[in-house]
Amino acid sequence: MNSYLNIDHISITFPTDNGPLNVLKDVKLEVKQGEFISLIGHSGCGKSTVLNIIAGLLNATEGGVILEGKEVTEPGPDRAVVFQHHSLMPWLSVYDNVCLAVDQLFKKTKSK
Ligand SMILES: Nc1ncnc2c1ncn2[C@@H]1O[C@H](COP(=O)(O)OP(=O)(O)OP(=O)(O)O)[C@@H](O)[C@H]1O
Ligand SMILES: [Mg+2]
Repeated sequence: MNSYLNIDHISITFPTDNGPLNVLKDVKLEVKQGEFISLIGHSGCGKSTVLNIIAGLLNATEGGVILEGKEVTEPGPDRAVVFQHHSLMPWLSVYDNVCLAVDQLFKKTKSK
């Protein structure tokens, strides 16, 4: 049976002021439906980067992520992320912060 989530040999390089920074190299992982996985490692080893690629917030430089048989190319409502650092707009209300994401998702149906 195919895996539910297939992290297929991903690598990512970030451009920095000091030149390219290779953060992930050929990372592969298959997760079955219902499996509970913890990524552990020292600070800066790339855990959040892996999660951001699965979330579709970052694109791998090489390789890709297949979720339920479909390649992840962008964020979507089928994946939820609790960010390590809060990502709220302090000048907006709680309601308007939530609306930011909801309106982005349903913008195609909104303008009627
Ligand atoms: N957009 C970016 N541009 C440049 N470097 C980045 C970028 N995002 C992450 N990095 C670097 O990639 C490396 C991995 O970062 P990441 O946040 O994935 O680590 P982590 O394992 O989640 O660390 P922690 O345990 O501290 O949360 C770090 O050296 C970080 O500085
Ligand atoms: Mg992290």
